Amino acid sequence: MLSRYTTLLLITGIFTLLAIACNNGKPATDKTQYVSKPAKVSAQTWSAPDSNAIHNDKSGDMIRYGKELLAHTAEYFGPNGTIAHLSNGMNCQNCHLEGGSRLFANNYSVVAASYPKLSFRSGKMQPISQRITDCFNRSLAGKAPDTNGREVQAMIAYIKWIGQGVKKGEKIKGTASEKLPFLTVAADPVKGQVIYMAKCKVCHGVNGEGLPAVDKRAYTYPPLWGPNSYNDGAGMYRIGNLAGFVKNNMPFGATYKSPQLSNEEAWNVAAFINSQPRPHYDQHKDWNDLKNKPIDFPFGPYADGFSEKQHKYGPFGPMKKKV
Ligand code: HEC
Ligand code: HEC
Repeated sequence: MLSRYTTLLLITGIFTLLAIACNNGKPATDKTQYVSKPAKVSAQTWSAPDSNAIHNDKSGDMIRYGKELLAHTAEYFGPNGTIAHLSNGMNCQNCHLEGGSRLFANNYSVVAASYPKLSFRSGKMQPISQRITDCFNRSLAGKAPDTNGREVQAMIAYIKWIGQGVKKGEKIKGTASEKLPFLTVAADPVKGQVIYMAKCKVCHGVNGEGLPAVDKRAYTYPPLWGPNSYNDGAGMYRIGNLAGFVKNNMPFGATYKSPQLSNEEAWNVAAFINSQPRPHYDQHKDWNDLKNKPIDFPFGPYADGFSEKQHKYGPFGPMKKKV
């Protein structure tokens, strides 16, 4: 019989081979392309508590209801939602994968411990409810339900439950999405389109329109651009966030342990997606303190002399040295 250790080695080996095979024989990273190495993530590995352990009582019911709302938001608040028609038909879980429990997939691990938190985007202290409202307004390109109502309170109950083991200020591996090393050149939407057609179109559609579910209340595959996608005030409209998310989670089935795209491919496909039309959000009050404005926020003014185009697609290396 194989020892546990040998089995582990074998499995790791198979995954590495698979990752390389899926990438047309190239290892997933090509160091020569980049000016910097990925940030080291040495902090503790987090995993979500077991949802079978949610109590069978009233507070447990709220947590389970919150989980359901985050996973199937469109069924309740989408264009054909059962509670109200407030959002674009996407689910929170489309970007906060597996109920916000997955590493490098915008998980909710640190939310309970770190909010209320100063948002540099708005310049204000934000409670969790306001951060949820932000994602309704931008990522779901709509309006948020009443933050005192049962639904938002249930979402908060779930987010607090999932983050229960995390202490304030604790460094957790795999929050938000991976900060990919910068390319030395601008990300290229034309090259990105080729990747999109080869590896994304099959689910997200030739026009990024996604695939509605049979009952038309939700999407089987969410849209990536066009009238029903996230708007240009959303976090995903910053190329770094989108590229990092895509690298470690797409095509669907990829994980940070077995990505299927190289960093360069992730940057380029993100450039393509964010070069396509989508709803506009009045974001002129965002990042009022220019020194905190992220370098990939594609709307000026900026504290440096670089153009909006360069802030949208890069190259980012020179900007970083300047600010
Ligand atoms: C189109 C993708 C997308 C969708 C859909 C989306 N979000 Fe987000 N959300 C993001 C991104 C990107 C961030 C920023 C990641 C970060 O900094 O952790 C974020 C951040 C958050 C945060 C703060 C996380 C933190 O650690 O500070 C919360 C809470 C949140 N979203 C809740 C929601 C809720 C609730 C919904 C559904 C109503 C939702 N999001 C829908 C992309 C999305
Ligand atoms: C096999 C089908 C499939 C393929 C192929 C695929 N995706 Fe996805 N994608 C999904 C599904 C399903 C979700 C929503 C995940 C969830 O809700 O759990 C998603 C979510 C997303 C999201 C976040 C939600 C949104 O709509 O903005 C982005 C961005 C994304 N995919 C980009 C890509 C890119 C880029 C590629 C190609 C490199 C790709 N996907 C390939 C199925 C796929």
